[in-house]
Amino acid sequence: MVTIKPFGKLADGTEVDLIAIQNSSGSTLEVTNYGACVTSIKLKMADGSIRDVVLGYDTPAEYEADKDTYFGATIGRIANRINACDDTGKPGFILNGKTYYLADTSGNGASLHGGVIGFDQKVFDYTTGDDYVEFKYTSPDGEENYPGNLTLTVRMTFGGDNALKIEYDAVSDKDTICNPTNHCYFNLAGHDSGINLKHKVCIDSDQINELLQNIVTGKISDVAGTAYDFNEPHEIGERIEDSHYQLVDSKGYDCNYILKPNPTKEIRQVAWAESPTGDVRLNVLTDAEGIQLYTGNFLDGRKGKGGAIYNFRNAVCLETQILPNAINMPHFPTSSVIKAGEHFNSTTIYAFDVK
Ligand code: GAL
Repeated sequence: MVTIKPFGKLADGTEVDLIAIQNSSGSTLEVTNYGACVTSIKLKMADGSIRDVVLGYDTPAEYEADKDTYFGATIGRIANRINACDDTGKPGFILNGKTYYLADTSGNGASLHGGVIGFDQKVFDYTTGDDYVEFKYTSPDGEENYPGNLTLTVRMTFGGDNALKIEYDAVSDKDTICNPTNHCYFNLAGHDSGINLKHKVCIDSDQINELLQNIVTGKISDVAGTAYDFNEPHEIGERIEDSHYQLVDSKGYDCNYILKPNPTKEIRQVAWAESPTGDVRLNVLTDAEGIQLYTGNFLDGRKGKGGAIYNFRNAVCLETQILPNAINMPHFPTSSVIKAGEHFNSTTIYAFDVK
């Protein structure tokens, strides 16, 4: 059952909505058309209580004021960081012989999550069905200096099985690049429960992208024998203080796992996370080839829903995507280029198992 109510106003007076999808299990997904953003996932627990497992805010104004967490938002056109494509050191890419420079949003030669005003800050049009909402945003040619009028459609379905299915479709009138993701911050013990480090995580991957100051170098590292190996489940906190230079640089986990080859683009389970007591499990299924594990290392005590304080490492993000900076890494398996008129499609499912 879908219900729609006003969520509030943005700074320019635009009204945005809060759309709730209640499923037959008594759980509710709430989303807003500001940033096609997941504001809550309220799970009905076995004892009848309700547990909201994603971080967020109570008003659109708070989402608008926050320029760096991307709580729950749809990220576009390009998730993650794009770095320099030539010796200017400016972030950008070369497509069909033309160089497109992008905003240096990190201050160290990288453009993060779509630029200064990414899709997380756009108002999407939407339609709804019995158990879904379908968002649509057309990014004009040249927005954030990306070529082509690009239309991104994001359908979020929340069925009785407590699975949030996110389907992306993108098409442009000129060749361009696109790599959308969703940026939910999960805390399966409850968004306001604080410490996240006792969550167990498992990721079906043997390799990560090597990083220097959060920017992919293009080298691929094996996880075997390192604190990045989650092939067997580990608590997030177990090895987070390890001396691996990437963990030290990123102040925790913040890196992209290369998933097992998937030539037929099957939607397969690639990761799971479990609350400290094991009462909620999140299974992540996707056809994407990469997943960013990010443990909220930039969280700094901000005030969220109902006055909850979100501190350092209080959540886990599992962001599915094409490998970061793929446009500048021709040896990566999948390119983020979409040709004029061709559709990019990808599906990710966040399936919750409540015990
Ligand atoms: C993540 C990224 C982090 C950080 C975060 C937003 O996707 O990996 O480095 O930028 O978004 O605060």
